[in-house]
Amino acid sequence: MNDPVKRLKHGFAMPAIGLGTWQMGGRETRNPADNGDRSVQALMEGLRMGYTHIDTAEMYAGGFAEEIVGRAIADFRRDRIFLTTKVWKTHLKYDEVLRAAEGSLKRLGTDYVDLYLIHQVNDEVPLEETMRAMNRLQSEGVVRNIGVSNFSVERLKRAQAYSETPIAANQVHYNLKVREAECSGMLEYCQENDLMLIAWRPLQKGGMLGDEMPKILLDLAADYGKTPSEIALSWLLMQKNVVTIPMSQNPRHLKRNLEAASWSMSQEDFLRLKKEYPFQLSVSDALPLA
Ligand SMILES: NC(=O)c1ccc[n+]([C@@H]2O[C@H](COP(=O)([O-])OP(=O)(O)OC[C@H]3O[C@@H](n4cnc5c(N)ncnc54)[C@H](OP(=O)(O)O)[C@@H]3O)[C@@H](O)[C@H]2O)c1
Repeated sequence: MNDPVKRLKHGFAMPAIGLGTWQMGGRETRNPADNGDRSVQALMEGLRMGYTHIDTAEMYAGGFAEEIVGRAIADFRRDRIFLTTKVWKTHLKYDEVLRAAEGSLKRLGTDYVDLYLIHQVNDEVPLEETMRAMNRLQSEGVVRNIGVSNFSVERLKRAQAYSETPIAANQVHYNLKVREAECSGMLEYCQENDLMLIAWRPLQKGGMLGDEMPKILLDLAADYGKTPSEIALSWLLMQKNVVTIPMSQNPRHLKRNLEAASWSMSQEDFLRLKKEYPFQLSVSDALPLA
């Protein structure tokens, strides 16, 4: 049985499964033809069925995704929701981080986020400067925990060295097919150093979605009476310190994805999938760690 909440030794805890929001309301910029209603409804439906964790970012749909999240959470108890957002890589100077956080809180309609992540690396700004701003936001209580995303082990170690408080998480591309987290040593580093690894894009197209699903996934889904997506999510959640954030706007998918947090396959099948899943990639095909 997978644990619906994952905890670190230093006290940080977060729900094992969350709702992603990439492509809600647009991609890098807002889609003018999308008023956000469908996404708001999907997120509210998710919250009603038991999700307690939403992942967003200031970059998503040029800030509109955060507005969508703000509309969706408005009628729910804030203290029952774990909210993550991220500062974009063009806002990593000290004052920019502070301003970015203020903008995110405004769009989200809240006075704090549970986790604030540096979305992607930017070598033009010293990491030390960005970490100082992250620490300030945390000391002011507007962000409860801080973390990073798409960081390599080496850069994560530097972020830890600059930070006055623990880095709670690194959010990285990880699923049955994309194994950079394993091959780079990131997963092991997180497990041994008390960090959460948040797996983004857990349901990769051309692998766990679409027409090209491998036989091993279809066979296991049939054996357990689960969907291939549930197998893929449960496989992630069976691992120490791993949580994940699938995105869906389909109530049926939302329900099945949530159920993946309360079920697990045998250790033997877990290991077979780990080893035998075909066409594994040792580096992300979307955004390698840097
Ligand atoms: N930190 C980063 O750099 C970074 C990068 C990318 C993503 N992320 C975060 O990670 C989240 C997840 O990644 P993602 O959205 O790229 O990919 P994903 O969650 O792996 O896949 C989303 C796609 O899967 C479909 N889907 C979801 N559940 C399904 C199910 N049970 N059966 C069949 N199809 C299903 C969705 O369509 P339906 O709506 O039809 O269900 C959607 O098209 C993002 O939304 C975002 O919050 C972070």
